[in-house]
Amino acid sequence: MKNKPISTALAFVAIIGISCKREGAVNKGEMDLAMEESYQGTPVSMQYDEKIDSLIAQMTLEEKVGMLHGSSMFATAAVERLGIPEFTMADGPLGVREEISRDSWAPAGWDNDFATYYPAGGGLAATWNPEMAYRFGNSVGAEARARDKDMLLSPAINIIRTPLGGRTYEYFTEDPFLNKKMTVPFVVGVQENDVAVSEKHYAANNQETHRDYVDVQIDERTLREIYLPAFKAAVTEGQAYGFMGAYNKFRGDYLCENEYMLQTVLRDQWGFDGIVVSDWAAVHDTKKALESGTDIEMGTPKPFDEFYFADALIKAVKEGKIEERYVDRAVKRVLQVMFTIKAIDDEGRKKGELSTEKHFQDAYDIASESIVLLKNDGGLLPINLDNIKSVAVIGNNATKKNALGGFGAGVKTKREVTPLEGLKNRLPESVQINYAEGYREGYSENEKAKLGDITLNGPVTLDELDPMLVEEAVNAAKNSDVAIIFAGSNRDYETEASDRASLALPFGQEALIEKVMVANPNTIVVMIAGAPFDLEQISEKSSALVWSWFNGSEGGNALADVLLGDVNPSGKLPWTMPKKLEDSPAHAIDAFPGDSTVVYKEGILVGYRWFDTKEIEPLYPFGYGLSYTEFEFLDVQTDKATYQEDEMIKIDVNVKNIGNITGKETVQVYVSKPNSTVERANKELKGFGKAELKSGETKTISIPIPIKELGYYNVANNSWEVEKGDYHIKVGNSSRNILSNIKITIN
Ligand code: BGC
Repeated sequence: MKNKPISTALAFVAIIGISCKREGAVNKGEMDLAMEESYQGTPVSMQYDEKIDSLIAQMTLEEKVGMLHGSSMFATAAVERLGIPEFTMADGPLGVREEISRDSWAPAGWDNDFATYYPAGGGLAATWNPEMAYRFGNSVGAEARARDKDMLLSPAINIIRTPLGGRTYEYFTEDPFLNKKMTVPFVVGVQENDVAVSEKHYAANNQETHRDYVDVQIDERTLREIYLPAFKAAVTEGQAYGFMGAYNKFRGDYLCENEYMLQTVLRDQWGFDGIVVSDWAAVHDTKKALESGTDIEMGTPKPFDEFYFADALIKAVKEGKIEERYVDRAVKRVLQVMFTIKAIDDEGRKKGELSTEKHFQDAYDIASESIVLLKNDGGLLPINLDNIKSVAVIGNNATKKNALGGFGAGVKTKREVTPLEGLKNRLPESVQINYAEGYREGYSENEKAKLGDITLNGPVTLDELDPMLVEEAVNAAKNSDVAIIFAGSNRDYETEASDRASLALPFGQEALIEKVMVANPNTIVVMIAGAPFDLEQISEKSSALVWSWFNGSEGGNALADVLLGDVNPSGKLPWTMPKKLEDSPAHAIDAFPGDSTVVYKEGILVGYRWFDTKEIEPLYPFGYGLSYTEFEFLDVQTDKATYQEDEMIKIDVNVKNIGNITGKETVQVYVSKPNSTVERANKELKGFGKAELKSGETKTISIPIPIKELGYYNVANNSWEVEKGDYHIKVGNSSRNILSNIKITIN
């Protein structure tokens, strides 16, 4: 076993306790990129091969097939006489989902399936802190074990292609580099608990509209450079044991029946040895799905023996239409993973723990690093309690809970601290809280049934304000020293299975915010949402604007600590906040949502790559986020001026905290290739590092970038290629605030 060096960039955030495990799987085809990784998973163990072969030899066809499809909503069948238990799964990205009935989506109604609600994916990514991703994974992995699960249906890592995406809150980012840097530690963290991950949704599942059938067309270079890097790193670095095949089609074939994606890319090129599980009801053809590499078919309720991988598979094998070796191949993969995670012969298997104070602390720490300070012009923040006797707390989102809601996986949790509760917990008793709901979440009754289909049917929200609620809110604001309005969306509005119709704030909130700001100029606007909204007007008029997320069990406490200054905000946007929808690439060129086909015509220019290349001003750029203190970047330098292809660029930045309080800053390194022979984005994120600095303190942040990371995917020979010549290394604290530009040359 060989440990890999821990990157110096990460050394600035506490990384104690991370076990760096065995080197990655052999990369059978495509050349690997980053080699300096700190987080390495343990591969699927092949040491049980003989045992597995002998087990398979003893199994009937029916027993084998039973292991390849849902025999209940979230488990496959056991083969008890051979000591093989059920293979059990649970969602998901926000924490371990409540127990679902065996044969319907109804909650099972248990009283021991409470779990910690962790910040949603966007919040985790906004920490820009891989250590937080590791802690998240390790914490939720322990909960999955405590709930006796073999596979956690997480992380969800699709690229945010459109700001309207219904699952934007669940996914990490628009940037492939940040995506992979958060994915790998997450995977390692989960799997250290003897639980498999399920990387989802593989792949190109970037919209909910038509997700069941839309055929996604992406050119090869864009696929490799934008949509696949995190999935690839999950295999080659994280050693993910599971992947989930997405609902949609890719280049004509459903993802669960896609030989190119499942066999050529995933297994032959990346060396994946784990299990491919279908998304729920994403299989459409027994033979094609099994032969192309889907191992387990899961689904929504219908008689389980009517699944494609059930009686139909038995029949096809008996009739000689499918060779039994394909069944054996899938069973073997499942057993290999089951042995690796000690689901069979479970001696020494981790037992996990559920809803502990330690896990709530993990949720708190992630949440407190995720909150993004967008604007703080008048010095309203942090709230100075010396001058304050009363605070108006306004907005439905002050009390709205988001652990459950909408369509899709949530968490049944015993703790979800709302923003109002957080303020009550943190404010001294001497400060009077004047709460007013202000606006109410509302949907048209007639249209409600269509909530899963918003894009097609237009908005279904009720946007008329109730004058009584407005009056209460205005009065609360007038009669308080400071007003905080909690606006945004919620998990009924941002939901799986539908995309949003527009970026407009729902429920009449914009009008309410304006009225509250007029009533009290000392108004702080806090957005609680998982995806971009049209904030241009609000941003212009308000002097203090904070972004929080569906932020887990401790979200309200973390938010109160940021508002009151006990935590200095350090989150950075993991996606671009456009001024208007039409500025975003897929919308600018009318390439969303398609109909039976969607063509990603913007190619590699996703997110800030588009805005920067086309010189479109975003409202708030990718990587942006303020602090209550200020930082200076000094003496930015690279270790050399010229490099060979197998070398590493080491960028050193002296970061100085020139303000009065401790804070954390994220150094971001973008790279440009002038005069490239191929199309290039204006710049691309290639490294980052986050550090905590006391007032007056200076630290050197070192960011290593392997030269190979600067390559582009050359479709002519299907490999990553590093062009020789000059590159610009751009160091800043957001994609639009570049503080230093260094030219290097690759020979
Ligand atoms: C979602 C998956 C989820 C599965 C099981 C599907 O609708 O797309 O993300 O894991 O349901 O709940």
